[in-house]
Amino acid sequence: MKVAVVKKAAKTDGLILPGFDDLDLSKPIYGLPESHRKAILELVQMEDWKWKSNHVKSVFLMDAPQKVVLLGLGKREKFTADRYQKVFGRAVKELLAHKAKSAAVLLGALGEVNAATVRLLTETLVDGAYRFMKYKSDKKPAKLEEFQLVTATDPKKLSAGAEQGVKLAEALAFARDLTNEPANFLTPTQLAAEAVAAGKKHGFEVQVFDEKKIRQMKMEAFWQVARGSEEPPRLIVMRYLGNPKQPKEIVGLVGKGLTYDSGGYALKPAEGMAGMKNDMGGSAAVIGAICALASMKAVVNVTAVVAACENMLSGHAYRNGDVIGSMAGKTIEVNNTDAEGRLTLADAVYYAVTNEKVTKLADIATLTGAAVVALGPMRIGVVDNDEALYQTLADASGTSGERIWRLPNDDDYRDLLRSDIADLKNTGGRQAGTVVAGLFIRDFVEKTPWVHLDIASTAFNEKEGATGSGVRILTAFCEKLAK
Ligand code: BES
Ligand code: MN
Ligand code: ZN
Repeated sequence: MKVAVVKKAAKTDGLILPGFDDLDLSKPIYGLPESHRKAILELVQMEDWKWKSNHVKSVFLMDAPQKVVLLGLGKREKFTADRYQKVFGRAVKELLAHKAKSAAVLLGALGEVNAATVRLLTETLVDGAYRFMKYKSDKKPAKLEEFQLVTATDPKKLSAGAEQGVKLAEALAFARDLTNEPANFLTPTQLAAEAVAAGKKHGFEVQVFDEKKIRQMKMEAFWQVARGSEEPPRLIVMRYLGNPKQPKEIVGLVGKGLTYDSGGYALKPAEGMAGMKNDMGGSAAVIGAICALASMKAVVNVTAVVAACENMLSGHAYRNGDVIGSMAGKTIEVNNTDAEGRLTLADAVYYAVTNEKVTKLADIATLTGAAVVALGPMRIGVVDNDEALYQTLADASGTSGERIWRLPNDDDYRDLLRSDIADLKNTGGRQAGTVVAGLFIRDFVEKTPWVHLDIASTAFNEKEGATGSGVRILTAFCEKLAK
């Protein structure tokens, strides 16, 4: 995909004209031929079309060779990053429906545009054209290959934003590809191989530990989840040293990497189980984020950790009722083998803080069905142990467009994890499932400032498949920590 900031657009198949509700079409608009402007003015008056938020209209103009997409943005002051993504995403779908290969986007109607907006816009446009086609024998969908962002501002001031946007969108596409891959291809071993290849491509170090090493390091909680499967687990550690002057400041990103979650002996029902190939969405998010940061050469040190395995059932699998150990030395009563993600994460976060010495930590996981019920696909559920770090995440949410919701963390929620026979148990029953899952992980981060993102409801949906949830907010989070 090519995205260029230009003063004058070359020929394109499509044209997006975005406008806030105060757009005045009776005056010239930069980049829009006068004949088009007059035709559009006539049309919107005739049809009483308003530039309301998320109003989209495709029109063919008599003398214009292109498909023109009118894009209503609504009130200027209400326009946030997530609105940009939603609305421009729809415009791209419109272009795809018309098989456009290239499109111009007239920024003139938006008013003052800075590099950050161009980055957001670029990332949104490129991501909007994403499709997962690997397994389709007939690979002939219309492919959007080029966007030209047309503006009166000096392109030199904005092109860095476009370049970053493309890089971010590519990392996002990689995360979506990984998550869309079925479990028969994307095994823990394959996920590790993908991380190694990405490290070579973008310039970060990747170390992969096999099952022998995992057991030697006493990652027993992780190991117990993995042991029911024929596929061996992998601990994947990715290190990007973007700020070598402060080598001791390291942001840790830990992603849940269940390449398949059958539930184990607490077997899931058939409906919904197929979606559990996506249970490594958290790992895709941290891999995507570190790719984005490395390719943009962000000045920050990031260590990403993924404990990758499958949750299967067999004669070797752990059982409901087992008591297992953990790298931190705590014993855990497994009252439900389907609450496996937190077990793998417990060891992964403990490894990150002790062995990798990360100083701030975010973990991200498709962790609880309760998050789907509580928040739906609109927001990521967040649990944290640190006000300042939560605020950084909230800032990152604002710039990245990925919405979050902070959940409570009162001590008495943690009481639900008390076990009669072990240090703690792995589920607290049906109450406050997302909070309690987060607090389970909190027990293993020691004193490290930590935020936990539950992306169970945002990582994938029926219509679009994997969304790459988490890549953008984690990238922005690390960038904010760099400053
Ligand atoms: N991977 C699932 C959570 C999930 C559910 C993600 C739906 C995406 C969509 C997780 O491992 C799980 O099974 N969680 C259980 C926990 C329960 C047993 C306490 C759940 O949410 O039902
Ligand atoms: Mn599960
Ligand atoms: Zn799971």
